[in-house]
Amino acid sequence: MENQITIHKPNDFHIHLRDGKALNLTVKHAAENFGKILVMPNLKPPIATTNQAIAYHEKIKNIAKNFADFSPLMTLYLTDNTTPEEIVEAKNSGTIFGVKLYPAGATTNSDAGLSNIQNAYPALEKMQQLGLTLQIHGEVVDKNVDIFDRERIFIETILQPLTQKFPDLKIVLEHITTKDAVNFINESGKNIAATITPQHLMFNRNDLLVGGVKPHFYCLPILKREEHRQALISAIKSGNPKFFAGTDSAPHSQHNKENACGCAGCYSAYHAIELYAEIFDTHKVLNLLDNFLSHFGADFYNLPRNPQKITLIKQAWKVPESFADFDENNDALIPLYAGKELSWKIKDKIY
Ligand code: DOR
Ligand code: ZN
Repeated sequence: MENQITIHKPNDFHIHLRDGKALNLTVKHAAENFGKILVMPNLKPPIATTNQAIAYHEKIKNIAKNFADFSPLMTLYLTDNTTPEEIVEAKNSGTIFGVKLYPAGATTNSDAGLSNIQNAYPALEKMQQLGLTLQIHGEVVDKNVDIFDRERIFIETILQPLTQKFPDLKIVLEHITTKDAVNFINESGKNIAATITPQHLMFNRNDLLVGGVKPHFYCLPILKREEHRQALISAIKSGNPKFFAGTDSAPHSQHNKENACGCAGCYSAYHAIELYAEIFDTHKVLNLLDNFLSHFGADFYNLPRNPQKITLIKQAWKVPESFADFDENNDALIPLYAGKELSWKIKDKIY
C-alpha cells in the first residue's frame, strides 16, 4: 500500500549523545527509534581508551534499560598517541566497533584529534590486521583551503594515499557532502563505505545562507551547492550498499547555536527516520528505504540485521519547535526542521 510501509528496525551508524544531563534526552530519542547506534567519542575529554568507552557504554545502557532491543556500539577517538595495544584491547572488548579520526581542529571537540596522519600509522596497521573500522571526518583543516572545498581536498590529499597504504583497512567516510565523495566511494573497494545524513540530502547552502543566516542548518561538513546534494540523492537512488544511514545527530543548546559564534550540528535523533522517509518518498524510492536504514550499515559492520519491524504511515505532522530543559543550564534544544511539516509518521510511536 502506498500510504504505509513496513521496514526492519533502523540503525544509525553515526550519532552524538554527549554526556551529563543531555544524555537523558539523547539516549531516550535514540532508543525509541533505533536498534543499533554507533556512538561518536568526541566528548570532553574524548573517549580515547577502552575503559572510558566501557564506562560511557554503561551510562548509556543504564538510561536505556527499558529498551530491550537497543544496542549502543562504541567508538574510540583516534589521537596522535593511540597505540596498537589500545587497538587490540578495543577490538577484544566486544563493545567497540570503530575508531574515529578527527583531524585536529576540524569540528566540535576535535582539539585532541590527529595532527598528522602518519602519527596514526601504527594504530591503523593494527586496525587493518584486526578488521576494526576507521570512521573518518573527512575535511582538511588548512586555513588556506576554502570551507566548501575541504572535503574534496581531504579525499585527494589524505584519503586516497591512505587507502593505498592500507588497502584492506575498513573505512567509513562519514557524513559525505560532495559529488567528489560519492565518486570516491563508487570507485573504491568493498571495504570503503560512507554514511549520509538527512540534512545533506534535504538541504543545500542556500538553505543555510539565503534570507539570513540559519544557525540550525549549520553543521560540518557544511551544506554544499545543489549539484552536490543531487549527487548524494543519486547515491541513495543507486541502491549501492556502500551508502547507508548515519544521522550525525549532534545536539547543541539553543544558546550555543543561536550565537555570534554558533556551534556546528543538527539534532535529528528524534525524527531522523521520518526525515529519511520524506526524502526517499520525494525521490520515489521508498522501496530502498529498508536497505539504507536497516540493512546496509549492519552488513558493512558484519552485524546481524535487526529482526524487529516498524511501520511508517503517511500522515502529516509537525516537528516540535524545541525540547525544553535539555542541559545543565536548562537551555532548550532546537531540532532540525523545527516546526516544519513531515508527511510520514511511525505507527505506535508517541510523538
Ligand atoms: O556538525 C557537526 N557536529 N559536525 C561534526 O563533525 C561534529 C558534530 C558535533 O559533535 O557537534
Ligand atoms: Zn558527527
